[in-house]
Parts: sequence; C-alpha cells; structure tokens
Amino acid sequence: MMPSSTGLSLIGEHPSIAALRELITRVARSKAQTVLIYGETGTGKGLVARMIHQLSTRAAAEFIDINCAAIPAQLLESELFGHERGAFTGAVGQKAGLIEAANGGTLFLDEVRELDPVMQAKILTLLDNRRFRRVGAVKPIHVDVRFIAATNKILLGEVNAGHFRDDLYYRLQVIAVNIPPLRERGDDVFLLAEHALASYNASHGSRMRHFAPEVEDIFRRYRWPGNVRELENLLERICLLEDGERIEVAHLPQRILREVGLAPGAGMAVAASPAPGGYHQATARFQRELIAAALRAAGGQVGVAAQGLGLSRHALRHQMARLDMGGPDQA
Ligand SMILES: Nc1ncnc2c1ncn2[C@@H]1O[C@H](COP(=O)(O)OP(=O)(O)OP(=O)(O)O)[C@@H](O)[C@H]1O
Ligand SMILES: [Mg+2]
Repeated sequence: MMPSSTGLSLIGEHPSIAALRELITRVARSKAQTVLIYGETGTGKGLVARMIHQLSTRAAAEFIDINCAAIPAQLLESELFGHERGAFTGAVGQKAGLIEAANGGTLFLDEVRELDPVMQAKILTLLDNRRFRRVGAVKPIHVDVRFIAATNKILLGEVNAGHFRDDLYYRLQVIAVNIPPLRERGDDVFLLAEHALASYNASHGSRMRHFAPEVEDIFRRYRWPGNVRELENLLERICLLEDGERIEVAHLPQRILREVGLAPGAGMAVAASPAPGGYHQATARFQRELIAAALRAAGGQVGVAAQGLGLSRHALRHQMARLDMGGPDQA
C-alpha cells in the first residue's frame, strides 16, 4: 500500500483495519483532548498514537512518548511536571517537564495502568483545568496538550479492582480506539509479512519473498500472541539465518509448530490419560495419536507432518507401517 503523507502507514485491508484507519483520521482531526488506545502487546498501539499525532493539527509540535511502567513513580512526577530549583534534594536547577515540552502537541502515556494513584489524581486535575504546577512551584502553568493513553490490559478490570481511578478511566475512554489482534485480521498477516520482508531484505541482503503453502496455512492458524511485533521478529530471524527465497516449515520455531499441532507435545493429553493394556499398547496408542494429529495438521502431507515431528519422511513412513497406520505408500 502507499505510505500516507505522514510517512507512517497502517498496513492492512481487513475491514477492521480499514475502519481503524478511518477512526484514526477522525480522532486526529477532532478536538478530543484525551484518547485511549487498547490492544494486545505488539498490535501497533505506539504506531497508532504517532499516526494520531501526525495527522492532527498538532503535528508541528512535539510528540512525547512516556512509558509509565519504565519510570519509577518518584521520578515520574518531576519528569512530567518539571520542578523549581530546590523543590527536592537534587533539584539544583529549574527544569521544565515533559508536559510543557508537549505543549501544543501530544503526550503519549504508554502502559497507563501503571500510573500510581497520586499521578492519576494529578493528571485528572490537569485534564480538568488544563493547568498544572511544577514540583515546588506556586504559579500554575497553562498548557494545551492532547493525552493519548495506551493499555494492553482492559482498564475496567483495574478500575473494578480499585487500582485505577474510575473518574480518570471514564475521562480517558470517551474516545477509545481498539486495535484488533493479528489473528483476527485474516490475510493481513501476509501483507504485513511482505512489507516486513521487503525491509529486512533491504537491510540484511536476504531474498525472502515467498511462503511455502504449508507455512501460509500455519500463519493463518497460529494465534500470534505477540502480534505484529512477533511476526516481524520471526521474519527478521529467518532473513538473517536462512538462505533462499521461500520460507519453509523448517524455518519456523518448534514453539509455533507445537501451537498449531505440528510438533511433539501436541498429543500429550493422550499419554496422560489412563492406559489400559499396559505400557507397550499405551505408548503405541500415543505414537499413533501423535502421528495422526501431525498428519491432520499437515493436511495429510507426510513430508510436512514429518518435519513437524522432527523425523525424516522415511522414518515417519516406517513408524506408520510399524503402527499399522496404513502401508508406507499410503496417507
Ligand atoms: N498495521 C500495521 N502496519 C504496519 N506496521 C505495523 C502495524 N501494526 C503494527 N506494526 C508494527 O509492529 C511493531 C509493533 O507495533 P507497536 O510497537 O506499535 O505495538 P504496541 O501495541 O505498542 O506493542 P506493546 O504493547 O508491546 O507496546 C512496530 O514495528 C509497528 O510499526
Ligand atoms: Mg508500545
């Protein structure tokens, strides 16, 4: 797809992504003072926050990114609000905080549920009054800042548990932007993959551009718990370590094969169940079950099932014959 005029682009053609792209534009151009972005890890919250800034009339001013989980609570207050000389031990000079730096622009509060109660109260006051005081200051400072908060856990749970102020939560979620997980975006996984491969090929000198049909099938079925970032990291690793132009099942980590039922471990439940007939019959039953599961997952292709099981095609055929799973030329 064509990059947008901002240089940032949200890749994807799934209806949920088309709708998200439109919402980003509308939110960016609105007068909304706060925005709450929700999405699992690696879904693109940081990217969406930057796009909202760049598509807004605030684009010429700063976009300031703060990870609330990465800064200790005592430090966060002076980082955000700044301080006057002598406000606390070590405050040798006067210092403007990030809120002042973001004046006219956007402040991105990543992992917002990590804000402690004191900071939650201070930010709520700032949102209500559009004014704040540097630590140790008497005079308030007026600012015009759009706050974009992000979370990868549903904040309402934190509210109900008493960890997050309900008034701040309701204030933030007036404009809520939900980013769907990668597994719910259909074939967008391939658009994102092609885009990532082009960039890794350019930087690493690799030539990866195709997917074995079985890999396509795995990409569609895998849950992608780390979402787009996980996809990017996987592809970068493959570009760095593997040769050729096509991504093969053998290039994928066992973790992924296991999750889609293509690797040892997939049939463990069978082994754990009570085993009439003694050890030999039970292990044979387990082996049959494991092989059958791998074959099902591989759409009946013995070569693919063998890769998933860490066996050669020949060894798998031999095992199937031994276990009466059809002759070596079947399946
Ligand atoms: N639709 C998309 N189009 C292009 N790139 C994307 C898209 N979604 C995510 N990315 C890319 O995926 C990576 C992860 O995105 P990002 O860091 O914004 O996720 P996040 O939700 O903030 O993750 P975390 O919860 O771990 O902070 C980045 O490299 C980002 O550019
Ligand atoms: Mg992020």
